[in-house]
Amino acid sequence: MSRTIIGLAAAAATAALVFTLGCGSGQDDSEASAPTTAAIWAGEEMPSQLSQTGLFADLSGLGPADGVIGYEVAFPLWSDEAEKHRHVHVPDGAKIEVDDDGRFVMPDGTWFAKSFGYREEGTLRKVETRVMRKADDTWTYVTYRWNEDGTEAELTEGQDVELDFCVPNSEKNYVIPGRIACLQCHAGSPVSGFHPWQLDEKLLTRLESEGHLATPAAEIPNRVVQGESAEEVAAIGYLASNCAHCHNPESSNYEGDQLDLRHHLAKEELVAKESVRLKRDDITTLVVPGNPGHSVLMRLFDAELGDREQSKMPPIGNLTIDPRGRAILTAWINKLEG
Ligand code: HEC
Ligand code: HEC
Repeated sequence: MSRTIIGLAAAAATAALVFTLGCGSGQDDSEASAPTTAAIWAGEEMPSQLSQTGLFADLSGLGPADGVIGYEVAFPLWSDEAEKHRHVHVPDGAKIEVDDDGRFVMPDGTWFAKSFGYREEGTLRKVETRVMRKADDTWTYVTYRWNEDGTEAELTEGQDVELDFCVPNSEKNYVIPGRIACLQCHAGSPVSGFHPWQLDEKLLTRLESEGHLATPAAEIPNRVVQGESAEEVAAIGYLASNCAHCHNPESSNYEGDQLDLRHHLAKEELVAKESVRLKRDDITTLVVPGNPGHSVLMRLFDAELGDREQSKMPPIGNLTIDPRGRAILTAWINKLEG
């Protein structure tokens, strides 16, 4: 059985802005320019430089401007060892709604920034800062490519941009995703990580005290990742963060398949359930309690990228297998009783 994921070929075909340099060779061609500070950008088009968004008071150090909050998610998406910094701006007086699943629905005027970089001898080498803004009930997705000095980042043209350094432990260059790639992951649920179950108590309390929550934090449904053990909470949270942006019924990626890995559903969907897609040898059950080696879930998690017999999960977003994620999923399956 060979299947491909709809949309991926289209994304590759539009990758026009690709430099054909070898992995890790060549020169960076971006130019440095003086950083400026401004209020939150109000123009219709996204600004051409990250400094102009007004999200950062100290651009080089990623220090937030007034009204911008730095936050972390409890269960981050693995992206091949990249270090990430997340920021949010909610306009004064605007309220965040909560949908029936307990996901935040952000008001117009919301901005998110997610900066990617690699730590080299203690210093963060910033690579790109992805930015989302909601206006007229529509999200815009753009990304800014940092200059060599880490003093300014320039808006990309919306196509994939292949950079001239290798993703750690891989033989492929880092690719700044184009807009089609953003949408492949973000279309089902436009905001992927900024949800109550991902955020700590301190941040929720702050949003509430600043008058930004339409529903009191304590009344938000599916507020916490539930599990029978610490291993289970870690695994369910991991799946929800690393897989549920495709594996949920609203995602355009999922061809009407049934597997829904949002945190309040993941366990029931997986444990002792038969695979719809993969039936090979004697391995047909998604999660076999106590037996990771016989679970389709681990088979796909460990698959090679490009394997046509079985699609690697996740199919996009990283090139290497997450060793920590592997340990988390294995520990959980081992602990489950049959
Ligand atoms: C491989 C899937 C994937 C791709 C491709 C992707 N994202 Fe995301 N993005 C996620 C997930 C999952 C999260 C939440 C988890 C986290 O932040 O670790 C996220 C979080 C974000 C956030 C923080 C706000 C939020 O939704 O929680 C921003 C901003 C963002 N992405 C922008 C972009 C932009 C812009 C692009 C394209 C240039 C892009 N992303 C491409 C999966 C993806
Ligand atoms: C970019 C979207 C995307 C992401 C992210 C993703 N998947 Fe998938 N997944 C798919 C698609 C599409 C299919 C069906 C395609 C196929 O059979 O090749 C699938 C199929 C599966 C199946 C087979 C279901 C069955 O009934 O046989 C499993 C199990 C699975 N994914 C697990 C995961 C896990 C675990 C993660 C996170 C570590 C993940 N997926 C992340 C898109 C995604």
